[in-house]
Amino acid sequence: MQISLLYVSRSVGPQTTTVTESILKTAHAHNKAHGITGVLCQGQGLFLQLLEGERSKVNRLFGRIMADSRHKDVELLHFEEIRQRRFGAWSMAHVELSALDPMIQLQHPEFDPYSASGPVMMAQLSELLRAGLPISPP
Ligand SMILES: Cc1cc2nc3c(=O)[nH]c(=O)nc-3n(C[C@H](O)[C@H](O)[C@H](O)COP(=O)(O)O)c2cc1C
Repeated sequence: MQISLLYVSRSVGPQTTTVTESILKTAHAHNKAHGITGVLCQGQGLFLQLLEGERSKVNRLFGRIMADSRHKDVELLHFEEIRQRRFGAWSMAHVELSALDPMIQLQHPEFDPYSASGPVMMAQLSELLRAGLPISPP
């Protein structure tokens, strides 16, 4: 059974390229080995990540991610069974959440994943991906 899981968290410390690269390096290796795909949106002090894969594997990974000291306030936004993956081609796509993104500007200050409903955040994620640039793994 395949599921998708969306969560939001707050970065601990500045979101430097070094931190991002380190997270993505681990993610690409681990996710490939465990059949997990998804997208990591990052910026504005936030992480917004969608994980897809076998339910047990995604749950196990989410447990590890929650324990990661590089972020805090991890909050589950949406969880559903899926028939088809949306990010089947990416072991972890990456999108920068820039303050200049039209979508964030338009939505501001409503762009607050901590108060939005899960389905609204799923819809906003789709909007972000239309505006953003997913970067495929090396
Ligand atoms: C925002 C964020 C997203 C992460 N995404 C993933 C991921 O998709 N896959 C992964 O294996 N690790 C990811 N990690 C790293 C894990 O939290 C953890 O450090 C890694 O799986 C190694 O776990 P271990 O130290 O228990 O072996 C992420 C970490 C953060 C802070």
